[in-house]
This record gives sequence, C-alpha cells and structure tokens, in this order.
Amino acid sequence: MRALITFFLLCFIAASSCQSHDLALGQASYGDVVIYKVNEYKYGFPLVVRTSIIEYPEAGQQNFAYIKAIFIKDNYVDGTGGYPTISAGGVGQRFVKIKLKSQRSHGFNFTITIYGRY
Ligand SMILES: *[C@@H]1O[C@H](CO)[C@@H](O)[C@H](O)[C@H]1NC(C)=O
Repeated sequence: MRALITFFLLCFIAASSCQSHDLALGQASYGDVVIYKVNEYKYGFPLVVRTSIIEYPEAGQQNFAYIKAIFIKDNYVDGTGGYPTISAGGVGQRFVKIKLKSQRSHGFNFTITIYGRY
C-alpha cells in the first residue's frame, strides 16, 4: 500500500514538475475583447519566494466590461516557474485580483490576458 502511494506521489511530482503552470478560466467568445494584457516577471533569489499581486482595474481606474476569461500563461517551460491564483473577483465580475507566487529560489514570468465584454 505504502509503495503504491509512493508510486502515485512520484508520478504526480514528475507530471507537475516539468510543466508550465498555466491557468485558464472562463471562455472568450466572439465579441469579447482583450481588456488587459501584461507581462509580469520577477527574478529569483536564493531561498526567497517572490510574489506579485496584479489588480485589474488598476487603482484609480474603472472597468465597465464584464470579465469573460482570464488566461495566465507561465513562460517558464521547465516547471520552475511560479503559481498563479485568483484571490478576488474573476470571471463574471468587473474586477480581479491575481496573486503570482514563485517557487523558493526561483523567479517567475507570466503573461496575463483578460478578455471582457462591454
Ligand atoms: C518573459 O517571457 C516572455 C515570453 O516568453 C519573454 O518574451 C520575455 O523576455 C520574458 N522576460 C524575462 C525577463 O525573462
């Protein structure tokens, strides 16, 4: 039993360690437009976890479009890139707060594209 669990754990680690950590939410369809696009990166430092918070709309700005889809592309293809999570808002709303977190000692490089409909 233990061997089996170890085996599955190893498979999981192998499958998740050498891939990009993309996040795709919602669906963009005809009539939806790119309302926000940004490339966010931070370099890695030994033993440090780097984080970034991306907020759309930016402070002091207003967004009148409803968010239809959010695509977060991890530009690290070897699996050492960071992990994106949505911490507030999202698809169906007019705002979103995205948290980007690197792995310890590594940096990250994400391209965030948000589609919306007015
Ligand atoms: C981040 O990734 C993009 C897309 O691959 C690339 O064009 C850009 O140079 C990268 N930025 C850094 C700082 O590595």
